[in-house]
Amino acid sequence: MWVQFARNTFFLVYLAALDRVPKDYFDPTAGTASIAIARFRATKHPKKGTVFLNPGGPGSSGTRLATQAFANLIGEDWELLGWDPRGINRTSPQVQCFDSQIDFNLFVANTVLEHGFTVAFTSNLSDPVIEAQLVEQSREYLVLQKTQAELCAKNMGNELRYMGTATVVRDLDIMAKIFDGEDGKINYWGTSYGSVLGAYLVNM
Ligand SMILES: *[C@@H]1O[C@H](CO)[C@@H](O)[C@H](O)[C@H]1NC(C)=O
Ligand SMILES: *[C@@H]1O[C@H](CO)[C@@H](O)[C@H](O)[C@H]1NC(C)=O
Repeated sequence: MWVQFARNTFFLVYLAALDRVPKDYFDPTAGTASIAIARFRATKHPKKGTVFLNPGGPGSSGTRLATQAFANLIGEDWELLGWDPRGINRTSPQVQCFDSQIDFNLFVANTVLEHGFTVAFTSNLSDPVIEAQLVEQSREYLVLQKTQAELCAKNMGNELRYMGTATVVRDLDIMAKIFDGEDGKINYWGTSYGSVLGAYLVNM
C-alpha cells in the first residue's frame, strides 16, 4: 500500500504516498487515489500515537507541517503526520483548474485576488466612499471565484466529485487505522479551515 518517494533520516521526516485509497468510498469502481504524507518521527519514548495536522486553506498542503517546530509545540513523544488533502499538491488526483501557472497568474493579475481587499475590519463602513469600494471589490471577488469554479469544472470534469471535506475525513480515518490501529483514537490538530475539518471529523 506504500510508495515511498523521499526520506531524510537526519531530519526525522519522511515523505511517502498512501496508494490505493478509494477515490470514492461508496463506489469501488471509481478507482483509486493516492495521498501524499509526511511523517515526523517521535524522538521520545514511549510514543503516545500520531497527531494528524491540517493547515486549512482549504487548499493548503499539509506535508510541510511535519516539522520539529510542531514537535516542540505538541510534544516529541508524538508521531506527527501532515498530509496533502484531496486535490492538493502531491496527492492525486490533483485539482488543476488552469492549463498552466501562467494562465493562473494572468487570471489573478491586477485583481482583488492578487491585491486582496483594501477595506479592513477597522475601516469606517458608514463612509459612502469606503462602502462603495467594499461593494465593488466584493462583486469582483465573487465573479472571479465563480469563473474559477467554472474553469475547474470544465477542466476537471467528474474528477471534482472526489474532492471535499467528508472524503478528507474518511482518508483521515483510514490513515489513523494504519498508524494507530483499528480502535485507536484519532488525534488531530487543525487551524483555520482545518478547524472546520475537525468539526466534520467529530460529527462523522
Ligand atoms: C508540496 O509539498 C512539498 C513537500 O512537503 C512542499 O515542499 C511544497 O512546498 C508543497 N507545495 C505547495 C504548493 O504547497
Ligand atoms: C465615518 O463616516 C461617516 C460618514 O462619512 C462620518 O460621519 C463619521 O464621522 C465617520 N466616523 C469616524 C469614526 O471617522
